[in-house]
Amino acid sequence: MTSNLEAQLLALRQEGEQAIAAADTLERLEELRVSYLGKKGQLGALLRSMGQMSAEERPKIGAIANTVKEALQASLDKQRESLESAQIQAQLDAETLDVSMPGIYKPQGRIHPLNGIIDRALDVFVGLGYTVAQGLEMETDYYNFEALNTPPDHPARDMQDTFYLPDGNLLRTHTSSVQIRYMEKEEPPIHIVAPGRVYRRDNVDATHSAVFHQIELLAIDEGLTFTDLKGTIKVFLQAMFGDLPIRFRASYFPFTEPSAEVDLQWNGRWLEVMGCGMVDPNVMKSVGYDPEIYTGFAAGFGVERFAMVLHQIDDIRRLYASDLRFLRQF
Ligand code: DAH
Repeated sequence: MTSNLEAQLLALRQEGEQAIAAADTLERLEELRVSYLGKKGQLGALLRSMGQMSAEERPKIGAIANTVKEALQASLDKQRESLESAQIQAQLDAETLDVSMPGIYKPQGRIHPLNGIIDRALDVFVGLGYTVAQGLEMETDYYNFEALNTPPDHPARDMQDTFYLPDGNLLRTHTSSVQIRYMEKEEPPIHIVAPGRVYRRDNVDATHSAVFHQIELLAIDEGLTFTDLKGTIKVFLQAMFGDLPIRFRASYFPFTEPSAEVDLQWNGRWLEVMGCGMVDPNVMKSVGYDPEIYTGFAAGFGVERFAMVLHQIDDIRRLYASDLRFLRQF
């Protein structure tokens, strides 16, 4: 009886150890633990038969059963450890980075030539102490014309063919409207530079677009003169184009007096690049500034014109065509 049970215990141990050593997953290992050592497991079942044993035999068999239990538990622990570390190793292997693999180039975006010009121009003016300002693309007649000394019957309006909206508003024809919006809110001294889109009813061709970009410049302070305007424009054009000859030519704009246009000598000919002038006293009055105290200068230029000159672009439409063959050059 005793030896029979002893033999069964030893057989259980041997069989258990083999099965545990062969377990290849943690789930399988758990099944084996339940099967051998669990409450309703095989070891328990054997021990329940100890009830019929004599008092001398019982401690001996009990001791053997304990050894079997400990041995099986030790096998389970050992196998668990080895399965867990194999699992970690497999994960590490799967995550290994092969630095000898060839790289994959992700094409980078580029700055559009128009944005490139705007960025450069703003940088120059910010370097001179100017603040970047913004207005609205949909404007009222007041901000686009009237407050800029361009009353309803003024002939200057004929120069600008305007897109009028059904509600009576319009698409701004120049960034000069930002001057008024800014001055209304702030007090002098003012030094702003304002980039933005403008709209005109032009037929599209190689040199015209119904939508284009301007950058507006405005400085208001006590004692500003035409010399300050000339000096500022010269520094700016030098930063953009290098040391090219420039000239100021008398011109007319309703919102400046005197007014000038600036030409740049480019490839042997004079090229007009911007309009400018001393802010007209009427413009000062329209925003409540006293023209006896303050003077100022303003300028506006077309970004497309700058881009075409700087990058030798022969057709303005290339700037809007989103043709990568063109855009990748910049
Ligand atoms: N607004 C003018 C245009 O679109 C450009 C211009 C001229 C702006 C003179 C100015 C200025 O600020 O002083 O043709």
